[in-house]
Amino acid sequence: MRFDIMTLFPEAVMPMMGASILGRAQKKGLLEIHAHQIRDYTTNRQNQVDDYPYGGGRGAIMQCDPLYNCWCAVCDEAGGPVHTVFLSPCGAVFTQQKARSLLQYERLVLVCGHYEGIDQRFVEECVDEEISLGDFVLTGGELPAMAVVDAVARMIPGVLGDDVCFTDESHWAGLLEYPQYSRPEIWHGRQVPPVLLSGDHAKVARWQKKQSILRTMRLRPDLFRKLRFPYRTRAERKFIEELEAEDDEFRNRDPKNLDRSK
Ligand SMILES: C[S@@+](CC[C@H](N)C(=O)[O-])C[C@H]1O[C@@H](n2cnc3c(N)ncnc32)[C@H](O)[C@@H]1O
Repeated sequence: MRFDIMTLFPEAVMPMMGASILGRAQKKGLLEIHAHQIRDYTTNRQNQVDDYPYGGGRGAIMQCDPLYNCWCAVCDEAGGPVHTVFLSPCGAVFTQQKARSLLQYERLVLVCGHYEGIDQRFVEECVDEEISLGDFVLTGGELPAMAVVDAVARMIPGVLGDDVCFTDESHWAGLLEYPQYSRPEIWHGRQVPPVLLSGDHAKVARWQKKQSILRTMRLRPDLFRKLRFPYRTRAERKFIEELEAEDDEFRNRDPKNLDRSK
């Protein structure tokens, strides 16, 4: 898979994208990440990429032409239009499910805005979807673009070595991950849960699943309400019944938090 990031700050993007797991994956040829300087595609002598907004208002808006010229160069190189994402606080909030769906593309273009944003006509002409990192405003689209690349790239086969690394994690199946521990067994008087030291794999798996459910219920009631999984199979229903019998907090949960009719 190949990612092309259109930005005014390639020098901010590339070191991060070339480090650690993604850097090693690129060296192995599992993916490619390129950053394109939008300013290189201006046609004026000052290399200006922005201008004042029509209708007044503060700040500057990135103009269509440099963005379009840059986008055309990337698509020409690809041999045709490439699925194009504009990182924007007005987009749909990024999720693990969205990251999974972006994996279907062999190439992705990620457009980073700056200043007060970009001319809407470029969005209408070239952008397939707008993605937001969350309900807040950043100074530029670089951090969101890097977040999208990272979240998608780590699911490319071979990048993490073992696919279980991400199918077992928070948000894959709608739950948060269970708490994890490493050595030493006791730290500041806090003991690792004994079941994790028992060597009993079935007990460990059950404990982890229970902790995932409880953690999601406590920390993300909004996600918990959306859960359909606990009642899908007979084994899951049995597990939930056992959890209700053994755990007061789970038994007394807000009834709005789980809709049994689903
Ligand atoms: C200062 S912001 C512009 C915000 C815009 N005036 C608004 O109110 O929606 C500049 C650029 O940062 C990026 N950006 C800012 N916040 C973002 C977010 N939450 N998610 C994705 N991109 C964001 C976008 O590319 C945006 O064009």
